[in-house]
Amino acid sequence: MTTHFNDACWLPFTPNRYFASHPKVLASARGAWYTTEDGRQLFDSLSGLWCSPLGHAHPAIAAAFARQPEILDFAPCFQLGNPPAFALAERVTALAPGSLDHVFFVNSGSEAVDTAIKLVIAYHRARGQGQRFRIIGRERGYHGVGLGGISVGGMVGNRKTFAPLMLNGVDHLRHPWDPNEMAWSRGQPAWGAHLADDLERLVGLHDASTIAAVIVEPVQGSTGVIVPPAGYLQRLRELCTRHGILLIFDEVITGFGRLGTPFAAQAFGVQPDLLTFAKAITNGTIPLGGVLIDRAVRDTILQVDGPAHMPEFLHGYTYSGHPMSCAVGLAALDAYASEGLFQRAAELAPVLEDAVHSLRGEPGITDVRNIGLMAAIELTPVPGKPGLRGFTVFEHGFANGTLFRAAGDAISLAPPFISTPAEIGRMVDSLRAAVRAAQAAG
Ligand SMILES: Cc1ncc(COP(=O)(O)O)c(C=O)c1O
Repeated sequence: MTTHFNDACWLPFTPNRYFASHPKVLASARGAWYTTEDGRQLFDSLSGLWCSPLGHAHPAIAAAFARQPEILDFAPCFQLGNPPAFALAERVTALAPGSLDHVFFVNSGSEAVDTAIKLVIAYHRARGQGQRFRIIGRERGYHGVGLGGISVGGMVGNRKTFAPLMLNGVDHLRHPWDPNEMAWSRGQPAWGAHLADDLERLVGLHDASTIAAVIVEPVQGSTGVIVPPAGYLQRLRELCTRHGILLIFDEVITGFGRLGTPFAAQAFGVQPDLLTFAKAITNGTIPLGGVLIDRAVRDTILQVDGPAHMPEFLHGYTYSGHPMSCAVGLAALDAYASEGLFQRAAELAPVLEDAVHSLRGEPGITDVRNIGLMAAIELTPVPGKPGLRGFTVFEHGFANGTLFRAAGDAISLAPPFISTPAEIGRMVDSLRAAVRAAQAAG
């Protein structure tokens, strides 16, 4: 059969030269399964890119998608509003913890992160502390590909080429993964809360009066599900509060049920000042992201002395609050609620935990970690070729019925919430086979 491939389409985060000789095309999807162009079924082990927990081709989402263009296909949100945007803002803030009462809509996780960075700078400036300009990120953090996001992010491959473009004054906490202390942890590792004290060290170095915010993913997703040690996020919160530093949780992956609660903030019992989200808000069907903002932060920015006819925060995107995206977002939130899917994610979490920890002892696997409905395994790298082992697992999975996502030599798993226990068992069996094949390949 003909593969619909051409090299006019430059694929993101893809080795395009290799792809040209090994094209892989997904043609359709339903439920937890993709179908390739040559008609093979692939289990979706990462819910798309962490974004499709409801599974694919959900009828309520398809219906919302079909209905909305007939009502309002586009409306600018500059100086204007629209019913789906207002309704979705109300729904998202109702799910959010504490006083995260306001939402600023964007189109992606990267835009949400850059927007959050601008908001914290604007906040400190509005309260007369414009000298607070530093943002503290974390090693191995992923916050998208905007210039703000790669600056606070901690993935060297995404940063090194663009070093001259990095935001001024950014610094990083250490990441909290130490295989010597926490390998094979189920859920939160007991060791490592003290790693949050890195912030105290950076305060000692830079002085709190120059630091605007700390941004972390509650669970670091894109570098292979790094779970926060018990007490770590609480300690980070305490230090931020003590030093007048805002805490941003990047919940682009963990938002909307991945840990069995609407947001990871609720699962860990830690309240951020701002929270970024995207992905699962529309089940990945249409781009949409946002920043949830604490009432006090929003009030401070809105109260700057300025003429009443001028916007207080000069920022926004043509597609902020897009009626199509927001209508689909409402349908997705309805489906999560009516099908009890956050609860189902919580129920499936121990099934995934037991299945993935059954890989312990498998040659070539050096760690297994998990929390909620997300997990990762760490593979021994091929000497001198980091990432090759993970890549081989992906290739084997693609040829044998499972779509895996490698993060270097870690393989991350985040199946759709609608998966069955049998599908999760099968996914892990197929991971075992792929790891064996990758080991045999040398
Ligand atoms: C934590 C986190 N932040 C931001 C992003 C960027 O999102 P997007 O690719 O929608 O720009 C991602 C994407 O995976 C993410 O995992």
